[in-house]
Amino acid sequence: MCGIVGFAMEENVTEHLIKGLEKLEYRGYDSAGIAVEKDGEISAVKTAGRISALKEKLKYENVSSHVGIAHTRWATHGEPNEKNAHPILSENKKIAVVHNGIIENADEIKKELISMGVEFETDTDTEVISQLLMINYDGSLLSAVIKTVKKLKGAFAFAAVCSDSPGEIAAARYLSPLTAVKFNSGAGIASDISALGEYSDEFIYLDDSEIAVINSDEVKIYSFSGEEKEKTPQRADADLNSDGRDGYEHFMLKEIYEQPEAVKKTIDAYYKNGEINFGFDEKFIEKLKNSDRVYFTACGSAYHAGAAAELFFEKILKIPCRAVIASEMRYSFTPLDKKTLVIAISQSGETADTLASLKNAKESGCATLSIVNVKDSYIAKTGESVIYTRAGREIAVATTKGYTTQLTALYMLGIYLAKIKNSAPDKELGEYENELFSLADMIKSTVSLSGYISRRAPFTAFEKDVFFIGRGVDFTCALEGSLKLKEITYIHSECLPAGELKHGTISLIERGTKVFAVAMNKRLADKTANGINEIKARGAYVICFTTEKLRDKFPLADEVVILEETNEFFAPAVTAPALQLWAYYSARTKGCDIDKPKNLAKSVTVE
Ligand code: BG6
Repeated sequence: MCGIVGFAMEENVTEHLIKGLEKLEYRGYDSAGIAVEKDGEISAVKTAGRISALKEKLKYENVSSHVGIAHTRWATHGEPNEKNAHPILSENKKIAVVHNGIIENADEIKKELISMGVEFETDTDTEVISQLLMINYDGSLLSAVIKTVKKLKGAFAFAAVCSDSPGEIAAARYLSPLTAVKFNSGAGIASDISALGEYSDEFIYLDDSEIAVINSDEVKIYSFSGEEKEKTPQRADADLNSDGRDGYEHFMLKEIYEQPEAVKKTIDAYYKNGEINFGFDEKFIEKLKNSDRVYFTACGSAYHAGAAAELFFEKILKIPCRAVIASEMRYSFTPLDKKTLVIAISQSGETADTLASLKNAKESGCATLSIVNVKDSYIAKTGESVIYTRAGREIAVATTKGYTTQLTALYMLGIYLAKIKNSAPDKELGEYENELFSLADMIKSTVSLSGYISRRAPFTAFEKDVFFIGRGVDFTCALEGSLKLKEITYIHSECLPAGELKHGTISLIERGTKVFAVAMNKRLADKTANGINEIKARGAYVICFTTEKLRDKFPLADEVVILEETNEFFAPAVTAPALQLWAYYSARTKGCDIDKPKNLAKSVTVE
């Protein structure tokens, strides 16, 4: 997911643009650049690598102005090098563009423009925007944008400056977030409000098919057909300026520690007078009552949350429930109809694959529900209804509190659905509700193992290959632990159901091979023990995450991490923080860039 920021202001814009980019760094990127307009000229400075490299370069380039745009790029089309870094200029160097998203018909437009004699310079899809703006420019940047967006297919948020339109930035939004802000000495535009948080606490959230034209005096919003629109600035729902590390070494560690509070806030948000209430309208509740199958569609850790919920939902709703990876589901032939409930799970609310899968479900007449952390995000607005997790801003690319609050929302949703469908005994549901209320405390006791885990994790930090195993819901938690470890330590980690080991992967187990076993499930403990015994017989070194009551089932385990006991379905919420800590301290031992792992983005808004 790329980062866009632009300012038109009385002060010199350069340092404000760099500060804005630094606020967007957490999203993950591999190149950065800035372009300013001054005295009829566009000056652009770009670099592969980090913003620090861009700042170094700017020391030697006189780039000062009152209007400019900047960008952090996560490469989709074209290598992450200086040439392909944004801003991308038009052939006549009069227009510069920064863009987030993907132009699906870029090749077709490029061919057409080349046949008109336009010379292209980069390998990016974004360059078609710059060149189209040049072709369409007739003295008004707004009208050039209006003509240009009509040609574009796909998801885009872009901002442009033009040397013949002094002091002005024009920006357009379609399927990719964009927010504007007006403040005393100017105005700003960004793909993420954290870049604008210090200028105001009221923001103009652009909707799809809207254009913003800003200068130091005003922000104007237009539809793609050019009608001016009145938009009321809104307050952000999170205190943007509080996303400091608050003394923690990394955002990830801070966010691991924030999980008990985030889980409690998510529960409190939807428990009213002893009942779970999501505020759904009657029509949607009827759809939920009549649904006869459930699909969770998501990516990465959000998919793992759905996978954990799958078993819980089937147990208490007694209908087929499946978690399907969104990038697969969007191209599958899964039968979807009005009695199907599709639940899109997404921390950022921007993940393109999840959005596409959700839109397919909506077009098929399904009941659609989004479980999202970021308010007003695209996936939040696309579902018929939305449940907001209360994780607060999550900055580290590897999600932690985003995942455990998704689990929490799913547990509540499962209980809620079972009640309105009358599909499980009240006594059973009551027991789950009681467990829900002690979830935050159980997670707190897991997080209190941080000291112990910080001493043990270095022991496995320099492995080349490790394995994770588990059964049932424990397997879904092992998947999350495996992903967390590989995301931030770059260790090759593979996860499989414990029962599957003997069907192939056990051939890789040698003396000293490290295997993490998640064994919280009382019902399947003996089966998990079989798996552990099989790999111990081949010399594996097994680190087992289990409870006091179950530990005697695994006498061969080399290490045992004891966690609080809960029902099998809620175990991932209690276990995951231990696996997150193990990954964190492994990465810290290796000196990895924990909050911004290489090649990763906080959310991927392209396919
Ligand atoms: C990846 C993130 O890019 O996207 C993961 O690095 C995340 O942490 C996944 O789980 C899905 O993102 P989201 O925002 O849809 O939950």
